[in-house]
Amino acid sequence: MRSLFNRPTILMCPPEHYGIEYEINPWMSRQRPADRELAKRQWHGLYERLTSLGADIRLQEPVAGLPDLVFTANAGLVCRDLVYLSRFRHAARQGETPLDDAWFQSHGLKTVTLPEGLDFEGAGDALFCGETLFAGYHIRSSARAMQWVAGEIGCRVIPLQLVSGYYYHLDTCFCPIDRETALYFPGAFDDYGQRALAAHVPNLIPVEQTEAERFACNAVVVGKNVVTNTGCPQLHAELAHRGFTPSETCLDEFLKAGGSAKCLTLRLDGEEAAVWPEAGRIAKSA
Ligand code: ARG
Repeated sequence: MRSLFNRPTILMCPPEHYGIEYEINPWMSRQRPADRELAKRQWHGLYERLTSLGADIRLQEPVAGLPDLVFTANAGLVCRDLVYLSRFRHAARQGETPLDDAWFQSHGLKTVTLPEGLDFEGAGDALFCGETLFAGYHIRSSARAMQWVAGEIGCRVIPLQLVSGYYYHLDTCFCPIDRETALYFPGAFDDYGQRALAAHVPNLIPVEQTEAERFACNAVVVGKNVVTNTGCPQLHAELAHRGFTPSETCLDEFLKAGGSAKCLTLRLDGEEAAVWPEAGRIAKSA
């Protein structure tokens, strides 16, 4: 069996306590607060869309004082029945980890804590495409953390340095959509990173800057369905042309925190694009 879950299963956290209470990325400004009622409607729109696509949505309890807990992608990296818990770089988010740990453990997943001193922001920065782990580092996660996690999993890791503050997590600028296909925004990577992506992803779909700024790369994939924020028509046309079914749902209140569809979700059963290596089967290599 591939995992504990037998259909697409996604962790979300309702935005009861969501807001812009601090500034830890360039999208966030306390001068530009979120409208919580509108955020709740937008979050429900995503919830309904994913449910209609057949996903089983599991909910985490929102907590006052942890406005970014809604971004469940950052709870950890799930691989089989293990979750590598995040170690947030910014103190403002560190209070989330004990709650994430408790949630996973009470839902049948085992949790792994990274050694002290390694920064790691879970599925925000670590994404499987096939059996390879693509790992964003520098802004939030450290390259050493990514090597450690990949070493534990026993998979190949492609480290990708993130070079633009606006694309501070890998999932803001890169999105595997099947085992051989991924979206990416070239401007978020240096030449080396762009070459590494081209060498390891057979079908790379570039996203224009205007659509990258709408968080086009922060897509949720369920089967052949690709759900993004509004305002990504070129990407949607390209996806339709390639046989995917794109759809949009407005998540603008979450852009104010630097997040969108993918950040609001954590796939518990394995992403469509991911082929989790069998434990110990894949040679450890870089
Ligand atoms: N305000 C949050 C932060 O800066 C947004 C996190 C978005 N999550 C993501 N997976 N990109 O940490």
